[in-house]
Amino acid sequence: MTDNTDTTAATPADAKPAKQPRKTAATRARKGAKAKKAQAEMLEPRASIASEPVTTTHLEAPAKTNADLLARRQAAVPRGVASAAPVFADRAENAEVWDVEGKRYIDFAGGIAVLNTGHRHPKVIEAAKAQEDRFTHTSFQVMPYEPYIALAEKLNALAPGDFAKKSIFFTTGAEAVENAVKIARTATGRTGVIAFTGGYHGRTHLTLGMTGKISPYKKNFGPFPADIFRVPFPHEHQGISVAQSIQALETLFLTDAQPDRVAAIILEPVLGEGGYHPVPAELWHELRRICDQHGILLIADEVQSGFGRTGRWFAIEHSGVAPDLITCAKSMAGGYPLSGVIGRADVMDAVEPGGLGGTYGGNPVACAAALAAIEAIETEGLLARSEAIGQHMRARFAEIGARSAPYRLWDIRGLGGMLAVELVSDFETGTPDAALTKLVVAKALEKGLVLLPCGMHGNAIRVMVPLTASDAIIEEGLAIFEAALAEAVAEQIQAAA
Ligand SMILES: Cc1ncc(COP(=O)(O)O)c(C=O)c1O
Repeated sequence: MTDNTDTTAATPADAKPAKQPRKTAATRARKGAKAKKAQAEMLEPRASIASEPVTTTHLEAPAKTNADLLARRQAAVPRGVASAAPVFADRAENAEVWDVEGKRYIDFAGGIAVLNTGHRHPKVIEAAKAQEDRFTHTSFQVMPYEPYIALAEKLNALAPGDFAKKSIFFTTGAEAVENAVKIARTATGRTGVIAFTGGYHGRTHLTLGMTGKISPYKKNFGPFPADIFRVPFPHEHQGISVAQSIQALETLFLTDAQPDRVAAIILEPVLGEGGYHPVPAELWHELRRICDQHGILLIADEVQSGFGRTGRWFAIEHSGVAPDLITCAKSMAGGYPLSGVIGRADVMDAVEPGGLGGTYGGNPVACAAALAAIEAIETEGLLARSEAIGQHMRARFAEIGARSAPYRLWDIRGLGGMLAVELVSDFETGTPDAALTKLVVAKALEKGLVLLPCGMHGNAIRVMVPLTASDAIIEEGLAIFEAALAEAVAEQIQAAA
């Protein structure tokens, strides 16, 4: 499991922090001289600073090896923020990343579903640079700017629903979800929120309350906000049908959650951290009916599934249902931190002026990048490309699975190019094998492929390869996956013998 993830997989979670090197007198003297020089520079007019060659003054002796950086990371950064890979990024291009030692990796993780348009898409970089040359920040709440408005107009037009819409921007996915709840509560005058088991909505306290998985996200962080309820997600292999999920919701209305006190029901169209399980269209239709019946707002959390990942702008479009509010982030801005809430204009306008916002929300560089990323998705046919990648990879995973006797690949699933495959210890029972998954991820990394697990049992591997990746790169990645799987299974069998 790994999103923001339970990156405990390869994290040196229990590694002791390395000792800090002692500061020598020479180091201290060098630092003093540098501080004086920096102060002097700050007093100079900008032009003279800009004309000097750029130097990395923040690094005394730039570490060039992964081992150096790992030691520094362990000494300087708390272990609570885990990293899936013990190697450090140096540069990236489209679907490839190079580490600080020059080793190349194919990126099937996309920085946790952020890079549908790939690393450093030329249009995104050009738009961001152009905006940087004008201004980087005023705060939309102080002096607003056009890129924010243009992006809102674009999203209002793209989002499903034949009604007037408005959009507001923030920085992270969790912030978008928090704000969607604030808007829903104000618009309805109610407090209750209903979420689903296995759902993931973020790491802030309100969103953790809605996130339906304890370890590692919620562990020891409670208590969580009140008035959040949970319904089982329909899960074929666990024998939970859509009808049973709906029955559980109806029971909840009788036992714990008074329906006319419920502000919103929130659901990801494809459970992200929960294992890339698509929501059956039937469930969306039932939820729409129930929400309309009780005056509850329906929120689609598209933070991970949006912006072409599934072959539509928003994954809920596959169902034909229009939610009242949509939360989005990640691939919206092609690698820049930006999130948003899109929704019915009347609902969005419920909060009084000043009730929503945040210093950095809707940063102009990120908005410019988002407009460019959206244009790239449109002009490069990336929605169709997602469908094609999805179909191809499903077929290839099925082939790899059939060749990998004893069979360990199970339940290839997803929507369009948002797909996952489970690794199991027993193909008949589908018993999750998180240990094998960790081994495959580690071996793939050694061989030059970045993979990210997910799922309640940490045994699903998800594919978030940039939609701009070439067929050749995708094939190369799949070949590495197959080799890593074969080696990991052989190693596991040998260890058990
Ligand atoms: C569906 C969903 N909602 C919300 C979030 C939280 O986004 P962020 O990590 O940007 O706060 C995520 C992150 O993975 C997500 O997948």
